[in-house]
Amino acid sequence: MSNTNNDRSPLLDRRTFLGVSTTIGAMAAAGVGPAIAQFRASRPVVISSANGFVATNGGSETCVERAYRLMTEGTDVLDALIAGVNIVELDPEDSSVGYGGLPDAEGHVTLDSCCMHGPLKRAGGVAALQGVRTPSLVARAVADLTDHHLLVDRGAQDFARQMGFTIEDDLNTDLSRRRYLEWRRRIDPAHYPDPQRQANLTPADINRFSNASLKVAEQMAADGLIDPEHLFGTINCNGVNRNGDVCGVTTTSGLAWKIPGRVGDSPILGAGLYVHNDFGAAGSTGRGEANLYNLASFLVVEELRRGADPKDAGMAALRRIWENTERRLLLDNGEPAFDVNFYVLGKDGRHAGVAFYGTSASGNQRNYAVCDENGGRHEPIEGLIR
Ligand code: GLY
Repeated sequence: MSNTNNDRSPLLDRRTFLGVSTTIGAMAAAGVGPAIAQFRASRPVVISSANGFVATNGGSETCVERAYRLMTEGTDVLDALIAGVNIVELDPEDSSVGYGGLPDAEGHVTLDSCCMHGPLKRAGGVAALQGVRTPSLVARAVADLTDHHLLVDRGAQDFARQMGFTIEDDLNTDLSRRRYLEWRRRIDPAHYPDPQRQANLTPADINRFSNASLKVAEQMAADGLIDPEHLFGTINCNGVNRNGDVCGVTTTSGLAWKIPGRVGDSPILGAGLYVHNDFGAAGSTGRGEANLYNLASFLVVEELRRGADPKDAGMAALRRIWENTERRLLLDNGEPAFDVNFYVLGKDGRHAGVAFYGTSASGNQRNYAVCDENGGRHEPIEGLIR
């Protein structure tokens, strides 16, 4: 892997420094009271989706622990968060993000990410990027080194190559390949016959299986073959340092076995992530389409701006999504047949994880990850419905 994948260049560090100094200087010169007040001390905290306190990629630190350590040692908040999510992106055991993420319907691993730097007011994203294990770093390069906010597909890959990122032919691992093959066998048993089950299949089975890719993915989750959290798996990670600098990053391989070209909420500013340095940050995991329809991370941060606490801000966004859900996506009792999670961090360090369902159907508590002065841990997600 090239240096660009691992380290910020001196040029970027100088830009970061100049950006912050210029912003503070201009605000001071203009006598902008409330804006200056944003530099008051905050309580340093990093939060993320639950996988941010699981994957270690063979090391000793999880995402939230690394991000918190770097941030409190003085590293730029966004650099610290990205160093944290890089652990998950690079971990072959996490099948929802980066290297080893579950591929699209053609077997290609395509990655989406975006990041926002509150104090610098910069943002960047990439969508449908192939061949780079750490899309979050490419998103950061888009933010720092271009005049744009979103690059996609071949353009994103060409940009990454030009910036010195290593481009690989295939980001599948043995595990993600095996799961892909199992999915193909289940949705298209006529073309991908499973030697074990072929003898028992009837034409009616084949008919039933076709055009039912999501159902099959859900069956595979129910059969314990894939983590149900990873069908729309993603990591969102948000942090605030003691100066009150708020940043966030979201990165994903998107919906497992999606139609090639499908992009969800993760790389879209306002959907998969939104940051406002005066109020806080919110990001999401779960059904991206529901979030895209409502730009719900933006809505969460607007609720923070109106004075809501992080939990209430997240619940307001869930209610909006529910209100705007098509009948086909509701259960017989009118509740959503899917989930969306929000990880909400106020500028003062208060935080919440919320979702439609805080417990799984079998009653297991669902969690999000936190690291603060008390160390890394999981805390319970609060459910709007249960
Ligand atoms: N939330 C991730 C996705 O839908 O792609």
